Amino acid sequence: MSAKLPGNAGVSVLGDKSLEFYRDPVSFCRRRIEKHRSRVFLSRLLNRPTAFICSVKGMRELLCEKSNVFVKDPTDLMTNMYGDTIVTTNGEEACLLRLSLSSLFTGPCLESTRDYISGVCERCLTELTRSGQPECVYSAFKGLGTELVLGLFLNVRAEEQPELLQEISQLCTLHWHGLISAPVNLKVPLWSSGFSTALEARDKLMDIIKNKLENETHGFVGSLRSLPLPDSSAAAQHLLLFISALIPKALASLLTSFTVGLSGNEGAEIRHQALEDPDYLDRVLLEVQRLWPPFIGGRRIADQDSPLAGFHVPKDYGVIYISHSVHRDPEVFQQPDSFLPERWSGRNAGQEHFLCSFGSGPRSCIGAKLTNVFLKEVCTYLLQHYAWHLDPPSQDLEYKWLPVSRPTNPPTVSFSCLDQTDSGTS
Ligand code: HEM
Repeated sequence: MSAKLPGNAGVSVLGDKSLEFYRDPVSFCRRRIEKHRSRVFLSRLLNRPTAFICSVKGMRELLCEKSNVFVKDPTDLMTNMYGDTIVTTNGEEACLLRLSLSSLFTGPCLESTRDYISGVCERCLTELTRSGQPECVYSAFKGLGTELVLGLFLNVRAEEQPELLQEISQLCTLHWHGLISAPVNLKVPLWSSGFSTALEARDKLMDIIKNKLENETHGFVGSLRSLPLPDSSAAAQHLLLFISALIPKALASLLTSFTVGLSGNEGAEIRHQALEDPDYLDRVLLEVQRLWPPFIGGRRIADQDSPLAGFHVPKDYGVIYISHSVHRDPEVFQQPDSFLPERWSGRNAGQEHFLCSFGSGPRSCIGAKLTNVFLKEVCTYLLQHYAWHLDPPSQDLEYKWLPVSRPTNPPTVSFSCLDQTDSGTS
């Protein structure tokens, strides 16, 4: 017999805690973990009784062992904005879509992106010292991420078509604002002005995408055209998803955390070691994603009554895993709040699968390998070419976690060129 979930879901509408959660998801979970003395508890989110999962064990059971019971929500906001895509599909259709799409992000397709990625890094990252002023790193990395996704997925390259890149990037931002304004305007999402502007932006983006799919045969667009997909609109819907502002923001989130975490004199030794030893850089990047996962987590719906982490979860309950809290589960991560790359060659060696920044199990992120190639390229470039420090040295680095994690006040950083003979590359 499984136990009753600690906490309560309150009454419909009045008992809803969505706003409290959106305002500060980390404190929301911390308070309840302490109150219930449990890393799994019940509350009400999006007006649905929802189990919150904040332990490594619970996350693994939810996303891996019981992925057939706890399924994606087809009525998720993502469907409103992006149409029917893999993200909100279940069962056999999801399996087939994953099989098709994954081929674009692995093997030869992944290898063929490397030259483009290093070209974009080279071009964008030389700019970091050009103005002579401290850089807002989050904006700089978001620009880099945007160039990456639009060049890779849509054949729109900054050096060839700067205006088109700018136009698409602005449309993606408008589209994105609709997505994030929707939960705030929970009561009347379809009437909010942000939402209708977002839908207009989506239509314009879809016109551009369809035109590309009709006329271009090279690159990612060409590969996508030749994939077996369930219907004629699937390629366009997925391109809309892949070029969404969400991805550059997530990349910028991780790169900002990396840069801030390794800044100044305190970060100098870690920067030096990470440059000397690529395995150590891997550990640094694991620790960056552990402490500052770009997305707060993901949601599922219980397809039937089921035990989860020792508790009874009734059919139709929501379940949400909170990556920030899972990554600080003290049962697995000792000194959970400390930045300790060494843990990944010591006590936590081989436990990368206990992280969930990219989800886990059969519905984990299909872009994780590509993201890793990109992150390593950027970080290696930075380490080889620059030393950097926060400028001004004292800044408020308090994080916000939604919609994508980053310091609330965007940090500014000064980069100085390393003497190449001292940089460890010789
Ligand atoms: C820093 C970058 C990224 C992060 C942090 C990230 C994170 C995630 C997470 C947490 C999930 C699982 C969501 C869940 O459990 O509900 C996911 C799924 C997914 N990601 Fe990513 N992602 C990133 C980059 C990318 C890229 C570059 C692509 C491809 C263009 C991509 C495509 C997808 C897709 C299609 C899914 C859905 C898979 C499925 O439902 O089966 N992601 N991602």
